[in-house]
Amino acid sequence: MSKIIIALDGFSSCGKSTTAKRVAAQLHYAFVDTGAMYRAVALYFQRNQVDCGNLEAVEKALDEVHITFEFNPERQASDTFLNGENVENEIRKMYISDIVSQVSAIPTVRHAMVAQQQKMGKKKGVVMDGRDVGTVVFPDAEVKIFMTADPKIRAQRRKLELMQKGEDLPIEQIVENLKIRDEIDSNRSEGPLKRAVDAIDLDTSYKSMDEQVAFVLEQVRRVQHAN
Ligand code: DC
Repeated sequence: MSKIIIALDGFSSCGKSTTAKRVAAQLHYAFVDTGAMYRAVALYFQRNQVDCGNLEAVEKALDEVHITFEFNPERQASDTFLNGENVENEIRKMYISDIVSQVSAIPTVRHAMVAQQQKMGKKKGVVMDGRDVGTVVFPDAEVKIFMTADPKIRAQRRKLELMQKGEDLPIEQIVENLKIRDEIDSNRSEGPLKRAVDAIDLDTSYKSMDEQVAFVLEQVRRVQHAN
């Protein structure tokens, strides 16, 4: 069976990464969490007080940002490394969620990340989740899924996720963060969060993770049988 590219785009906390991870494991494909890359850049910018409005400073900082992924057998998932430091936990924290959309809206940042993502998927056999994978990174991806979910359910899921990582935040703060991020992610000039015209919709509000994974695998089978 020839290898394909599977693009999972959509809003935050719709279960994209978990679905992508499980689909990749089933197919023995690589998994790339593009959101983690933007989060790592945001962490670097925050630590080094990079002025997002200063193009020269942004370009210089990007030259110093090296993002890699390494499989962690304990988690059965890849950890994100920023210049050799494991930042997997740090990048998931709320202070990064609060700034990541601003950083990821900078066109220069997007160009650098998209180029890396295209390299990572060059040989195909990859499941990539994000906002612009099916529209910008791999517009020719064989399978494109656009994931949505009820905003209240997304907020509950995010709260649970943060709690499991030791951050107990009021639901109102999470709702607000998701709202602001949706707004910035959907309205930026470069690579906005947008459903690709040929994407298949997947509303995960009332779906179990098993159902979501089965749905994506079904689309993969459909495409592979058609070829
Ligand atoms: O998937 P996530 O919630 O971890 O992503 C964090 C942020 O990164 C999200 O609010 C917008 C940005 N992002 C992006 O602009 N483009 C992508 N392909 C993935 C994420």
